[in-house]
Amino acid sequence: MSAQTTVIAETIQSGYSPTALPADPCAIVIFGASGDLARRKLIPALYDLAANASLAPSYAIVGFARTAMSDDAFRNTSGEATRKISEVGPVDDTKWTAFAPSLFYFPGDYKDPEAFRRLGARLAELDRERGLRGNRLFYVSTPPEVYPLLVEQLGRAGLAKPADERSWVRIIIEKPYGRDLESARQLNQAVLRVFDESQVYRIDHYLGKDTVQNLLVFRFGNGIFEPLWNRRYVDHVQITAAESLGVESRAAFYETAGAVRDMIQNHVLQLVSMVALEPPASFDATAVRNEKLKVLQSIRPFSPEAVGKFVVRGQYGAGTIHANAVPGYRQEPGVKPDSRTETFVAAEFAIDNWRWAGVPFYVRTGKRLPSRATEIAIQFHRAPHQVFRGANVEPNWLMLNIQPDEGISISFGAKLPGPEMRIKSVSMDFCYRTAFGAGSRSAYATLLNDCMRGDATLFDRADSVEAAWALVDPILNVWRDSVPTFSNYAAGSWGPREADHLMGRNGRRWHNP
Ligand code: BG6
Repeated sequence: MSAQTTVIAETIQSGYSPTALPADPCAIVIFGASGDLARRKLIPALYDLAANASLAPSYAIVGFARTAMSDDAFRNTSGEATRKISEVGPVDDTKWTAFAPSLFYFPGDYKDPEAFRRLGARLAELDRERGLRGNRLFYVSTPPEVYPLLVEQLGRAGLAKPADERSWVRIIIEKPYGRDLESARQLNQAVLRVFDESQVYRIDHYLGKDTVQNLLVFRFGNGIFEPLWNRRYVDHVQITAAESLGVESRAAFYETAGAVRDMIQNHVLQLVSMVALEPPASFDATAVRNEKLKVLQSIRPFSPEAVGKFVVRGQYGAGTIHANAVPGYRQEPGVKPDSRTETFVAAEFAIDNWRWAGVPFYVRTGKRLPSRATEIAIQFHRAPHQVFRGANVEPNWLMLNIQPDEGISISFGAKLPGPEMRIKSVSMDFCYRTAFGAGSRSAYATLLNDCMRGDATLFDRADSVEAAWALVDPILNVWRDSVPTFSNYAAGSWGPREADHLMGRNGRRWHNP
Protein backbone atom coordinates (compact mmCIF):
# COMPACT_ATOMS: atom_id res chain seq x y z
CA MET A 1 0.00 0.00 0.00
CA SER A 2 1.33 3.43 -0.86
CA ALA A 3 1.98 5.95 1.86
CA GLN A 4 -0.75 8.11 0.34
CA THR A 5 -3.47 5.52 0.27
CA THR A 6 -5.09 4.67 3.53
CA VAL A 7 -7.83 2.13 3.61
CA ILE A 8 -10.13 2.56 6.54
CA ALA A 9 -11.47 -0.84 7.50
CA GLU A 10 -14.66 -0.44 9.46
CA THR A 11 -17.18 -2.98 10.59
CA ILE A 12 -20.84 -2.42 10.00
CA GLN A 13 -21.25 -1.87 13.76
CA SER A 14 -18.98 1.16 13.73
CA GLY A 15 -21.36 2.90 11.33
CA TYR A 16 -21.05 5.25 8.43
CA SER A 17 -18.81 8.26 8.65
CA PRO A 18 -18.93 10.99 6.02
CA THR A 19 -15.53 12.27 7.12
CA ALA A 20 -12.67 11.70 4.72
CA LEU A 21 -9.03 12.16 5.65
CA PRO A 22 -8.19 15.87 5.98
CA ALA A 23 -6.60 17.32 2.88
CA ASP A 24 -3.48 19.49 2.67
CA PRO A 25 -3.99 23.27 2.91
CA CYS A 26 -4.29 24.62 -0.63
CA ALA A 27 -5.85 27.06 -3.05
CA ILE A 28 -8.39 25.45 -5.37
CA VAL A 29 -8.88 27.36 -8.59
CA ILE A 30 -11.99 26.40 -10.57
CA PHE A 31 -11.79 27.40 -14.23
CA GLY A 32 -15.32 27.59 -15.63
CA ALA A 33 -16.67 28.71 -12.25
CA SER A 34 -19.93 30.08 -13.65
CA GLY A 35 -20.73 26.79 -15.39
CA ASP A 36 -23.19 24.09 -14.48
CA LEU A 37 -20.64 21.59 -13.14
CA ALA A 38 -19.08 24.10 -10.76
CA ARG A 39 -22.44 25.22 -9.39
CA ARG A 40 -24.13 21.82 -9.18
CA LYS A 41 -21.26 19.58 -8.18
CA LEU A 42 -17.88 21.14 -7.40
CA ILE A 43 -18.70 23.91 -4.95
CA PRO A 44 -21.32 21.78 -3.17
CA ALA A 45 -18.76 18.97 -2.90
CA LEU A 46 -16.19 21.36 -1.42
CA TYR A 47 -18.78 22.64 1.05
CA ASP A 48 -19.57 19.03 1.95
CA LEU A 49 -15.87 18.35 2.60
CA ALA A 50 -15.53 21.50 4.68
CA ALA A 51 -18.70 20.70 6.65
CA ASN A 52 -17.31 17.26 7.46
CA ALA A 53 -13.83 18.45 8.48
CA SER A 54 -12.27 16.90 5.38
CA LEU A 55 -10.61 20.06 4.11
CA ALA A 56 -7.53 21.42 5.84
CA PRO A 57 -8.31 24.23 8.33
CA SER A 58 -6.95 26.73 5.79
CA TYR A 59 -8.01 26.75 2.17
CA ALA A 60 -9.19 29.18 -0.49
CA ILE A 61 -11.49 28.46 -3.42
CA VAL A 62 -11.05 30.80 -6.35
CA GLY A 63 -13.65 30.77 -9.11
CA PHE A 64 -12.19 31.90 -12.45
CA ALA A 65 -14.51 32.69 -15.38
CA ARG A 66 -15.16 35.34 -18.00
CA THR A 67 -18.34 36.81 -16.50
CA ALA A 68 -17.72 39.81 -14.24
CA MET A 69 -18.84 39.13 -10.64
CA SER A 70 -17.88 40.23 -7.12
CA ASP A 71 -16.79 37.83 -4.38
CA ASP A 72 -20.09 38.44 -2.62
CA ALA A 73 -22.17 37.71 -5.70
CA PHE A 74 -20.17 34.49 -6.24
CA ARG A 75 -20.75 33.46 -2.61
CA ASN A 76 -24.48 34.13 -2.95
CA THR A 77 -24.98 32.25 -6.23
CA SER A 78 -22.87 29.37 -4.91
CA GLY A 79 -24.93 29.22 -1.73
CA GLU A 80 -28.16 29.21 -3.65
CA ALA A 81 -27.00 26.46 -6.02
CA THR A 82 -25.70 24.32 -3.14
CA ARG A 83 -29.03 24.62 -1.34
CA LYS A 84 -31.32 24.21 -4.34
CA ILE A 85 -29.76 22.12 -7.10
CA SER A 86 -26.98 20.09 -5.56
CA GLU A 87 -27.02 16.57 -4.14
CA VAL A 88 -25.31 17.33 -0.81
CA GLY A 89 -28.51 17.32 1.23
CA PRO A 90 -29.63 19.98 3.69
CA VAL A 91 -27.11 22.80 4.06
CA ASP A 92 -26.27 23.76 7.65
CA ASP A 93 -26.45 27.58 7.81
CA THR A 94 -23.71 27.87 10.44
CA LYS A 95 -21.38 25.67 8.40
CA TRP A 96 -22.15 27.56 5.21
CA THR A 97 -21.41 30.86 6.97
CA ALA A 98 -18.04 29.47 8.05
CA PHE A 99 -17.32 28.19 4.51
CA ALA A 100 -18.46 31.11 2.33
CA PRO A 101 -15.66 33.61 3.23
CA SER A 102 -13.16 31.18 1.68
CA LEU A 103 -14.84 31.57 -1.72
CA PHE A 104 -13.35 34.19 -4.04
CA TYR A 105 -14.10 35.19 -7.58
CA PHE A 106 -11.58 36.14 -10.22
CA PRO A 107 -12.89 37.44 -13.57
CA GLY A 108 -10.56 36.77 -16.48
CA ASP A 109 -10.33 35.92 -20.14
CA TYR A 110 -8.65 32.60 -20.98
CA LYS A 111 -6.95 34.26 -23.95
CA ASP A 112 -5.35 36.99 -21.86
CA PRO A 113 -1.86 36.18 -20.47
CA GLU A 114 -2.17 39.19 -18.17
CA ALA A 115 -5.18 37.59 -16.45
CA PHE A 116 -3.02 34.59 -15.55
CA ARG A 117 -0.24 36.80 -14.29
CA ARG A 118 -2.75 38.60 -12.07
CA LEU A 119 -4.15 35.25 -10.95
CA GLY A 120 -0.63 34.26 -9.89
CA ALA A 121 -0.32 37.45 -7.82
CA ARG A 122 -3.74 36.83 -6.21
CA LEU A 123 -2.78 33.26 -5.33
CA ALA A 124 0.49 34.44 -3.77
CA GLU A 125 -1.52 36.90 -1.67
CA LEU A 126 -3.96 34.20 -0.52
CA ASP A 127 -0.99 31.94 0.26
CA ARG A 128 0.44 34.53 2.60
CA GLU A 129 -2.87 35.49 4.21
CA ARG A 130 -4.10 31.94 4.74
CA GLY A 131 -0.95 29.85 5.11
CA LEU A 132 -1.65 27.66 2.08
CA ARG A 133 2.00 26.54 1.79
CA GLY A 134 2.05 27.26 -1.95
CA ASN A 135 -0.18 24.22 -2.69
CA ARG A 136 -2.45 24.70 -5.70
CA LEU A 137 -5.14 22.64 -7.30
CA PHE A 138 -6.38 23.79 -10.70
CA TYR A 139 -9.74 22.35 -11.73
CA VAL A 140 -10.47 22.60 -15.44
CA SER A 141 -14.23 22.55 -16.05
CA THR A 142 -14.43 24.93 -19.02
CA PRO A 143 -15.72 23.98 -22.46
CA PRO A 144 -13.20 21.39 -23.75
CA GLU A 145 -11.92 23.55 -26.62
CA VAL A 146 -10.39 25.86 -24.01
CA TYR A 147 -8.29 23.11 -22.31
CA PRO A 148 -5.09 23.38 -24.40
CA LEU A 149 -4.99 27.18 -24.19
CA LEU A 150 -5.65 27.16 -20.47
CA VAL A 151 -2.85 24.72 -19.80
CA GLU A 152 -0.50 26.76 -21.95
CA GLN A 153 -1.40 29.95 -20.08
CA LEU A 154 -0.75 28.29 -16.72
CA GLY A 155 2.65 27.19 -17.97
CA ARG A 156 3.50 30.58 -19.40
CA ALA A 157 2.50 32.36 -16.18
CA GLY A 158 4.81 30.06 -14.21
CA LEU A 159 1.86 28.54 -12.32
CA ALA A 160 2.36 24.91 -13.34
CA LYS A 161 5.33 24.13 -11.12
CA PRO A 162 5.48 24.18 -7.33
CA ALA A 163 7.46 26.99 -5.72
CA ASP A 164 9.61 24.57 -3.70
CA GLU A 165 9.93 20.85 -3.07
CA ARG A 166 7.55 20.94 -0.09
CA SER A 167 4.59 22.36 -2.03
CA TRP A 168 2.54 20.84 -4.83
CA VAL A 169 0.63 21.91 -7.93
CA ARG A 170 -1.98 19.55 -9.41
CA ILE A 171 -4.50 19.82 -12.20
CA ILE A 172 -7.85 18.04 -12.51
CA ILE A 173 -9.13 17.81 -16.07
CA GLU A 174 -12.79 17.10 -16.70
CA LYS A 175 -14.23 14.91 -19.40
CA PRO A 176 -14.62 14.97 -22.36
CA TYR A 177 -10.91 14.29 -22.60
CA GLY A 178 -10.66 14.67 -26.39
CA ARG A 179 -13.27 13.61 -28.93
CA ASP A 180 -11.32 10.77 -30.54
CA LEU A 181 -7.95 9.07 -30.20
CA GLU A 182 -6.07 11.69 -32.17
CA SER A 183 -7.43 14.68 -30.24
CA ALA A 184 -6.90 12.87 -26.92
CA ARG A 185 -3.26 12.28 -27.88
CA GLN A 186 -2.85 15.93 -28.81
CA LEU A 187 -4.40 16.99 -25.52
CA ASN A 188 -2.09 14.66 -23.59
CA GLN A 189 0.88 16.15 -25.41
CA ALA A 190 -0.27 19.71 -24.69
CA VAL A 191 -0.83 18.91 -21.01
CA LEU A 192 2.43 16.99 -20.60
CA ARG A 193 4.45 19.81 -22.18
CA VAL A 194 3.51 21.90 -19.16
CA PHE A 195 2.77 19.44 -16.34
CA ASP A 196 4.39 16.22 -15.27
CA GLU A 197 2.09 13.15 -15.50
CA SER A 198 2.23 12.86 -11.69
CA GLN A 199 0.53 16.28 -11.44
CA VAL A 200 -2.34 15.39 -13.79
CA TYR A 201 -5.64 14.01 -12.48
CA ARG A 202 -8.02 13.07 -15.33
CA ILE A 203 -11.38 12.75 -13.64
CA ASP A 204 -14.19 10.29 -14.32
CA HIS A 205 -16.73 10.82 -11.57
CA TYR A 206 -17.93 7.19 -11.79
CA LEU A 207 -14.73 6.14 -10.03
CA GLY A 208 -15.66 8.38 -7.10
CA LYS A 209 -18.90 6.48 -6.50
CA ASP A 210 -18.74 4.30 -3.38
CA THR A 211 -20.48 1.46 -5.17
CA VAL A 212 -17.92 1.46 -7.98
CA GLN A 213 -15.05 1.32 -5.48
CA ASN A 214 -16.96 -1.36 -3.63
CA LEU A 215 -16.50 -3.58 -6.68
CA LEU A 216 -12.86 -3.89 -5.65
CA VAL A 217 -13.77 -4.47 -2.02
CA PHE A 218 -16.34 -7.09 -2.98
CA ARG A 219 -13.86 -8.92 -5.16
CA PHE A 220 -10.61 -8.54 -3.25
CA GLY A 221 -11.73 -7.91 0.34
CA ASN A 222 -13.60 -11.21 0.49
CA GLY A 223 -12.28 -14.71 0.02
CA ILE A 224 -15.32 -16.36 -1.50
CA PHE A 225 -16.15 -14.41 -4.66
CA GLU A 226 -12.89 -14.11 -6.55
CA PRO A 227 -12.57 -17.88 -7.13
CA LEU A 228 -15.88 -17.70 -9.08
CA TRP A 229 -14.91 -14.60 -11.02
CA ASN A 230 -13.88 -16.13 -14.33
CA ARG A 231 -14.95 -18.00 -17.46
CA ARG A 232 -15.35 -21.26 -15.58
CA TYR A 233 -18.33 -19.95 -13.58
CA VAL A 234 -19.52 -16.79 -15.33
CA ASP A 235 -21.77 -17.10 -18.38
CA HIS A 236 -21.84 -13.41 -19.25
CA VAL A 237 -21.78 -9.91 -17.77
CA GLN A 238 -24.31 -7.13 -18.45
CA ILE A 239 -23.70 -3.49 -17.64
CA THR A 240 -26.58 -1.04 -17.92
CA ALA A 241 -26.26 2.72 -17.37
CA ALA A 242 -29.80 3.93 -17.94
CA GLU A 243 -31.14 7.46 -17.60
CA SER A 244 -34.74 8.57 -17.78
CA LEU A 245 -33.78 12.19 -18.42
CA GLY A 246 -33.44 13.40 -21.99
CA VAL A 247 -30.81 15.79 -23.26
CA GLU A 248 -32.19 18.61 -21.05
CA SER A 249 -30.45 21.94 -21.71
CA ARG A 250 -27.23 20.34 -23.01
CA ALA A 251 -28.10 19.95 -26.70
CA ALA A 252 -25.21 22.17 -27.85
CA PHE A 253 -22.73 19.81 -26.18
CA TYR A 254 -24.61 16.57 -26.78
CA GLU A 255 -25.06 17.16 -30.50
CA THR A 256 -21.26 17.10 -30.81
CA ALA A 257 -20.87 14.10 -28.52
CA GLY A 258 -23.51 11.35 -28.49
CA ALA A 259 -23.71 8.36 -26.15
CA VAL A 260 -20.45 6.69 -27.21
CA ARG A 261 -18.34 9.74 -26.39
CA ASP A 262 -20.46 10.83 -23.43
CA MET A 263 -20.82 7.50 -21.60
CA ILE A 264 -19.17 4.48 -23.23
CA GLN A 265 -15.62 5.81 -23.75
CA ASN A 266 -15.42 6.76 -20.08
CA HIS A 267 -17.99 5.69 -17.48
CA VAL A 268 -19.03 2.39 -19.03
CA LEU A 269 -15.48 1.29 -19.86
CA GLN A 270 -14.47 2.16 -16.29
CA LEU A 271 -17.13 -0.25 -15.06
CA VAL A 272 -15.97 -2.94 -17.48
CA SER A 273 -12.39 -2.48 -16.24
CA MET A 274 -13.38 -2.67 -12.58
CA VAL A 275 -15.31 -5.90 -13.14
CA ALA A 276 -12.68 -7.52 -15.33
CA LEU A 277 -9.32 -6.47 -13.88
CA GLU A 278 -6.88 -8.91 -12.34
CA PRO A 279 -6.17 -8.56 -8.59
CA PRO A 280 -3.71 -5.66 -8.24
CA ALA A 281 -0.69 -6.25 -6.01
CA SER A 282 -1.89 -3.41 -3.77
CA PHE A 283 -4.53 -0.69 -3.68
CA ASP A 284 -2.35 2.09 -5.00
CA ALA A 285 -2.37 4.28 -8.07
CA THR A 286 0.23 2.43 -10.11
CA ALA A 287 -0.94 -1.11 -9.38
CA VAL A 288 -4.66 -0.43 -9.89
CA ARG A 289 -4.18 1.68 -13.01
CA ASN A 290 -1.82 -0.88 -14.57
CA GLU A 291 -4.46 -3.59 -14.17
CA LYS A 292 -7.23 -1.38 -15.59
CA LEU A 293 -5.10 -0.58 -18.60
CA LYS A 294 -4.49 -4.28 -19.24
CA VAL A 295 -8.25 -4.87 -19.45
CA LEU A 296 -8.68 -2.13 -22.06
CA GLN A 297 -5.79 -3.57 -24.01
CA SER A 298 -7.38 -7.04 -23.91
CA ILE A 299 -10.76 -5.99 -25.28
CA ARG A 300 -10.99 -7.21 -28.86
CA PRO A 301 -10.84 -4.20 -31.21
CA PHE A 302 -13.86 -3.73 -33.48
CA SER A 303 -13.30 -4.22 -37.19
CA PRO A 304 -15.75 -2.27 -39.40
CA GLU A 305 -17.74 -5.52 -39.90
CA ALA A 306 -17.76 -6.17 -36.16
CA VAL A 307 -19.24 -2.72 -35.52
CA GLY A 308 -22.26 -3.72 -37.65
CA LYS A 309 -22.60 -7.00 -35.79
CA PHE A 310 -21.79 -6.12 -32.18
CA VAL A 311 -22.76 -2.47 -31.71
CA VAL A 312 -26.26 -0.98 -31.88
CA ARG A 313 -27.09 2.71 -31.89
CA GLY A 314 -30.39 4.38 -31.18
CA GLN A 315 -32.07 7.74 -30.86
CA TYR A 316 -35.27 8.32 -28.91
CA GLY A 317 -38.50 9.42 -30.48
CA ALA A 318 -41.49 10.88 -28.64
CA GLY A 319 -42.89 8.72 -25.86
CA THR A 320 -43.96 8.57 -22.25
CA ILE A 321 -41.78 8.69 -19.14
CA HIS A 322 -43.32 8.22 -15.70
CA ALA A 323 -46.76 8.83 -17.28
CA ASN A 324 -45.68 12.14 -18.89
CA ALA A 325 -45.58 12.63 -22.65
CA VAL A 326 -42.11 13.76 -23.74
CA PRO A 327 -40.80 14.89 -27.15
CA GLY A 328 -38.36 12.96 -29.32
CA TYR A 329 -34.67 13.91 -29.40
CA ARG A 330 -34.97 15.71 -32.73
CA GLN A 331 -37.71 17.91 -31.26
CA GLU A 332 -35.63 18.96 -28.24
CA PRO A 333 -34.52 22.63 -28.18
CA GLY A 334 -31.17 23.08 -29.91
CA VAL A 335 -31.21 19.71 -31.69
CA LYS A 336 -31.07 19.54 -35.49
CA PRO A 337 -34.32 18.17 -36.98
CA ASP A 338 -32.29 15.55 -38.88
CA SER A 339 -29.74 14.91 -36.12
CA ARG A 340 -27.77 11.67 -36.39
CA THR A 341 -26.55 11.85 -32.79
CA GLU A 342 -27.06 8.58 -30.92
CA THR A 343 -28.75 8.74 -27.52
CA PHE A 344 -28.50 4.98 -26.97
CA VAL A 345 -25.75 2.42 -27.48
CA ALA A 346 -25.59 -1.30 -26.82
CA ALA A 347 -22.48 -3.33 -27.52
CA GLU A 348 -20.96 -6.73 -26.96
CA PHE A 349 -17.31 -6.71 -25.92
CA ALA A 350 -15.03 -9.74 -26.02
CA ILE A 351 -12.12 -9.74 -23.58
CA ASP A 352 -9.30 -11.81 -24.99
CA ASN A 353 -7.47 -13.04 -21.93
CA TRP A 354 -7.34 -16.26 -19.88
CA ARG A 355 -9.88 -15.14 -17.33
CA TRP A 356 -12.59 -13.95 -19.70
CA ALA A 357 -12.11 -15.78 -23.03
CA GLY A 358 -15.58 -16.67 -24.30
CA VAL A 359 -17.48 -14.58 -21.70
CA PRO A 360 -19.31 -11.73 -23.45
CA PHE A 361 -19.59 -8.37 -21.71
CA TYR A 362 -22.81 -6.70 -22.89
CA VAL A 363 -23.07 -2.99 -22.18
CA ARG A 364 -25.81 -0.47 -22.86
CA THR A 365 -26.51 3.12 -22.02
CA GLY A 366 -29.22 5.50 -23.08
CA LYS A 367 -31.22 8.60 -22.38
CA ARG A 368 -35.00 8.51 -21.97
CA LEU A 369 -35.07 4.89 -20.84
CA PRO A 370 -37.84 3.93 -18.39
CA SER A 371 -35.81 4.58 -15.23
CA ARG A 372 -32.50 5.86 -13.92
CA ALA A 373 -30.44 2.89 -12.90
CA THR A 374 -26.85 1.79 -13.26
CA GLU A 375 -26.28 -1.87 -12.57
CA ILE A 376 -23.91 -4.70 -13.27
CA ALA A 377 -25.56 -8.09 -13.67
CA ILE A 378 -23.43 -11.21 -13.69
CA GLN A 379 -25.06 -14.43 -14.80
CA PHE A 380 -23.37 -17.64 -13.69
CA HIS A 381 -23.51 -20.92 -15.57
CA ARG A 382 -26.38 -23.23 -14.83
CA ALA A 383 -25.68 -26.21 -12.59
CA PRO A 384 -23.88 -28.74 -14.82
CA HIS A 385 -26.30 -31.56 -14.10
CA GLN A 386 -30.02 -31.16 -13.47
CA VAL A 387 -30.79 -33.41 -10.51
CA PHE A 388 -34.30 -32.01 -10.05
CA ARG A 389 -35.92 -33.22 -13.24
CA GLY A 390 -38.88 -31.17 -14.33
CA ALA A 391 -38.06 -28.34 -11.92
CA ASN A 392 -37.20 -25.06 -13.53
CA VAL A 393 -33.84 -24.13 -12.05
CA GLU A 394 -32.74 -20.60 -12.92
CA PRO A 395 -29.05 -19.77 -13.18
CA ASN A 396 -27.58 -17.71 -10.31
CA TRP A 397 -27.33 -13.98 -10.78
CA LEU A 398 -25.18 -11.50 -8.95
CA MET A 399 -26.54 -7.97 -9.17
CA LEU A 400 -24.34 -5.01 -8.30
CA ASN A 401 -26.56 -1.95 -8.08
CA ILE A 402 -24.41 1.09 -8.59
CA GLN A 403 -27.26 3.63 -8.32
CA PRO A 404 -29.76 4.76 -7.23
CA ASP A 405 -30.67 1.79 -4.95
CA GLU A 406 -27.09 1.08 -3.99
CA GLY A 407 -26.55 -2.50 -2.99
CA ILE A 408 -25.77 -6.06 -4.01
CA SER A 409 -27.99 -9.09 -4.36
CA ILE A 410 -27.39 -12.72 -5.17
CA SER A 411 -30.11 -14.97 -6.49
CA PHE A 412 -30.33 -18.69 -5.93
CA GLY A 413 -32.90 -21.45 -6.15
CA ALA A 414 -34.80 -22.47 -3.03
CA LYS A 415 -37.33 -25.22 -2.46
CA LEU A 416 -40.88 -23.97 -2.29
CA PRO A 417 -42.63 -25.19 0.87
CA GLY A 418 -44.90 -28.15 0.23
CA PRO A 419 -44.82 -31.80 -0.69
CA GLU A 420 -43.64 -31.31 -4.27
CA MET A 421 -40.06 -30.54 -5.32
CA ARG A 422 -40.60 -27.08 -6.76
CA ILE A 423 -37.84 -24.55 -6.97
CA LYS A 424 -38.11 -20.80 -6.93
CA SER A 425 -35.43 -18.20 -7.40
CA VAL A 426 -34.96 -16.04 -4.28
CA SER A 427 -32.40 -13.42 -3.44
CA MET A 428 -30.10 -12.32 -0.64
CA ASP A 429 -29.81 -8.57 -0.53
CA PHE A 430 -27.37 -6.05 0.84
CA CYS A 431 -28.58 -2.46 0.80
CA TYR A 432 -26.15 0.37 1.52
CA ARG A 433 -28.75 2.54 3.16
CA THR A 434 -30.01 -0.17 5.51
CA ALA A 435 -26.55 -1.42 6.45
CA PHE A 436 -24.81 1.90 6.90
CA GLY A 437 -27.72 4.22 7.60
CA ALA A 438 -26.86 6.52 4.71
CA GLY A 439 -26.49 6.57 0.98
CA SER A 440 -23.27 7.30 -0.83
CA ARG A 441 -21.53 10.65 -0.56
CA SER A 442 -20.88 12.82 -3.59
CA ALA A 443 -18.38 11.24 -5.98
CA TYR A 444 -16.85 14.68 -6.53
CA ALA A 445 -16.21 15.14 -2.79
CA THR A 446 -14.31 11.85 -2.71
CA LEU A 447 -12.25 12.67 -5.78
CA LEU A 448 -11.45 16.25 -4.76
CA ASN A 449 -10.28 15.01 -1.37
CA ASP A 450 -8.16 12.27 -3.01
CA CYS A 451 -6.51 14.81 -5.29
CA MET A 452 -5.75 17.19 -2.41
CA ARG A 453 -4.06 14.26 -0.66
CA GLY A 454 -2.12 13.28 -3.77
CA ASP A 455 -3.88 9.95 -4.28
CA ALA A 456 -4.35 9.31 -8.01
CA THR A 457 -5.71 5.75 -7.73
CA LEU A 458 -9.19 6.79 -8.86
CA PHE A 459 -8.06 9.04 -11.71
CA ASP A 460 -7.16 8.16 -15.28
CA ARG A 461 -3.69 7.99 -16.70
CA ALA A 462 -2.79 9.24 -20.20
CA ASP A 463 -2.31 5.69 -21.51
CA SER A 464 -5.70 4.38 -20.40
CA VAL A 465 -7.59 7.40 -21.76
CA GLU A 466 -5.95 6.72 -25.12
CA ALA A 467 -6.65 2.97 -24.89
CA ALA A 468 -10.35 3.71 -24.31
CA TRP A 469 -10.46 6.03 -27.32
CA ALA A 470 -8.68 3.42 -29.44
CA LEU A 471 -11.56 1.04 -28.67
CA VAL A 472 -14.40 3.38 -29.58
CA ASP A 473 -12.76 5.14 -32.55
CA PRO A 474 -13.69 2.37 -35.05
CA ILE A 475 -17.34 2.62 -33.96
CA LEU A 476 -17.39 6.37 -34.49
CA ASN A 477 -15.66 6.00 -37.86
CA VAL A 478 -18.17 3.47 -39.19
CA TRP A 479 -21.12 5.51 -37.97
CA ARG A 480 -19.79 8.75 -39.40
CA ASP A 481 -20.01 7.26 -42.89
CA SER A 482 -23.45 5.67 -42.66
CA VAL A 483 -26.92 7.12 -42.27
CA PRO A 484 -28.94 5.65 -39.38
CA THR A 485 -32.70 5.13 -39.36
CA PHE A 486 -33.67 7.37 -36.46
CA SER A 487 -35.67 7.63 -34.29
CA ASN A 488 -35.71 3.92 -33.50
CA TYR A 489 -36.93 3.70 -29.91
CA ALA A 490 -39.72 5.46 -28.09
CA ALA A 491 -38.87 7.50 -25.01
CA GLY A 492 -39.78 5.30 -22.05
CA SER A 493 -38.80 2.02 -23.73
CA TRP A 494 -35.62 -0.03 -23.22
CA GLY A 495 -34.04 1.01 -26.51
CA PRO A 496 -34.20 -0.25 -30.10
CA ARG A 497 -35.19 -3.83 -30.90
CA GLU A 498 -31.72 -4.49 -32.33
CA ALA A 499 -30.36 -4.24 -28.78
CA ASP A 500 -32.54 -7.19 -27.80
CA HIS A 501 -31.39 -9.13 -30.88
CA LEU A 502 -27.77 -8.53 -29.86
CA MET A 503 -28.42 -10.76 -26.85
CA GLY A 504 -31.25 -12.83 -28.22
CA ARG A 505 -29.14 -14.46 -30.91
CA ASN A 506 -27.17 -16.17 -28.15
CA GLY A 507 -30.31 -17.07 -26.20
CA ARG A 508 -29.77 -14.33 -23.62
CA ARG A 509 -31.92 -11.44 -22.43
CA TRP A 510 -31.26 -8.06 -20.90
CA HIS A 511 -31.94 -7.78 -17.24
CA ASN A 512 -34.05 -4.62 -17.03
CA PRO A 513 -33.64 -2.80 -13.68
C1 BG6 B 1 -22.01 12.67 -17.44
C2 BG6 B 1 -22.64 12.75 -18.79
O1 BG6 B 1 -20.62 12.46 -17.54
O2 BG6 B 1 -22.59 11.60 -16.71
C3 BG6 B 1 -24.14 12.93 -18.67
O3 BG6 B 1 -22.08 13.83 -19.52
C4 BG6 B 1 -24.74 11.86 -17.79
O4 BG6 B 1 -24.77 12.94 -19.95
C5 BG6 B 1 -23.97 11.75 -16.49
O5 BG6 B 1 -26.08 12.21 -17.55
C6 BG6 B 1 -24.43 10.56 -15.69
O6 BG6 B 1 -23.85 10.61 -14.41
P1 BG6 B 1 -24.58 9.97 -13.17
O7 BG6 B 1 -23.61 10.12 -12.05
O8 BG6 B 1 -25.85 10.71 -12.97
O9 BG6 B 1 -24.83 8.54 -13.55
